[in-house]
Amino acid sequence: MPTCELGAVSGRFGLPRELRVGQTLGHYRLVEQISTGGMGVVYRAHDEHLDREVAVKVLASASVNDAAACRRFQNEALILSKLNHPNIISIYDFDAQDGIDFLVMEYVPGQTLSARLERGPLTQDEVLHIGRQIAASVKEAHDHGIIHRDLKPQNVLLTPKGQVKVADFGLAKLASPVIDPAATTNVSRDLGLIGTLPYMPPEQLRGKPTDFRSDIYSAGAVLYELATGRRAFPETLGPRLIDSILHEVPHPPSSLTRWVSAAFETIVLKCLEKEPERRYQSSAELGVDLQHLSTSTASLPTEIENDAKSKAKVCAEILAQKYMFVNNATSDSTCRVRSII
Ligand SMILES: Nc1ncnc2c1ncn2[C@@H]1O[C@H](COP(=O)(O)OP(=O)(O)OP(=O)(O)O)[C@@H](O)[C@H]1O
Ligand SMILES: [Mg+2]
Repeated sequence: MPTCELGAVSGRFGLPRELRVGQTLGHYRLVEQISTGGMGVVYRAHDEHLDREVAVKVLASASVNDAAACRRFQNEALILSKLNHPNIISIYDFDAQDGIDFLVMEYVPGQTLSARLERGPLTQDEVLHIGRQIAASVKEAHDHGIIHRDLKPQNVLLTPKGQVKVADFGLAKLASPVIDPAATTNVSRDLGLIGTLPYMPPEQLRGKPTDFRSDIYSAGAVLYELATGRRAFPETLGPRLIDSILHEVPHPPSSLTRWVSAAFETIVLKCLEKEPERRYQSSAELGVDLQHLSTSTASLPTEIENDAKSKAKVCAEILAQKYMFVNNATSDSTCRVRSII
């Protein structure tokens, strides 16, 4: 059983034990290091018993003597074990070997949303498809009384088939539903800054209680970035960033991206409202609005299609005029050329 004892990973001589690709933890052989996150190191690994790929997360050596990081790691395993949803990473195991605690999860091929964003903003279809899945994953967590508290593009994985998998529940916590007045008492003890600044809701920066609507804010910040390719609050200096999250209104996404409709903008800006009372009051509501928008835009031609059609029309008109000029054709032939469009 994982112990999370301080110093356990350091071994007898107080030196961090290095993990190497090729070695095994339990019956999981480490194949490749995927990332060094803030708290953990994640490996792609092979489950030697079930002959399948898995992801193994261990605490980063800088965190092994950090009691809070250790608790978050255990917390992540316990929270993940309560959730079972196609848009949330599944946990397979939580174990320890030689004092090294490790968490085994399904391996998700693909990329994080932050990696995807390096290629620029996404299309409307992509954003709505991803947004609906994020809303569904958050709803699953909220239905179990769990707030993620660290939704951001680095913590959302996207498979090659377009399936979203929300990861990193290390900062997640149990809370009571918003409508339960006890919730306020519960979460009001949480006055520390937990999460990632650019995606952190104003109430958290003010040291006020966080609840499910904090995740809705962060989901809105992710949607904003997917649609525009830039953060809702792009300041990079901490104090300025905090100031703009607290006091400024984000640039309307439609001023940055042509496809953004009034309906989409309303959804995103509602998520990003400063006061939780003015946001969606549940992830279910957000999911419904994203679903409605997807359905209503599915039948409309996309901007690219419209653009291609208008270009094709201009070409055909030029062709038609040329045809008439060269062949002294009748208006009938013009109509025939036009009818191909
Ligand atoms: N199950 C998985 N399958 C594939 N890749 C994963 C998986 N889990 C995590 N990763 C990769 O590892 C990275 C770090 O994972 P995670 O966010 O859980 O660690 P972390 O140390 O808590 O990160 P941070 O503190 O920086 O947010 C992710 O951004 C992703 O690239
Ligand atoms: Mg992370």
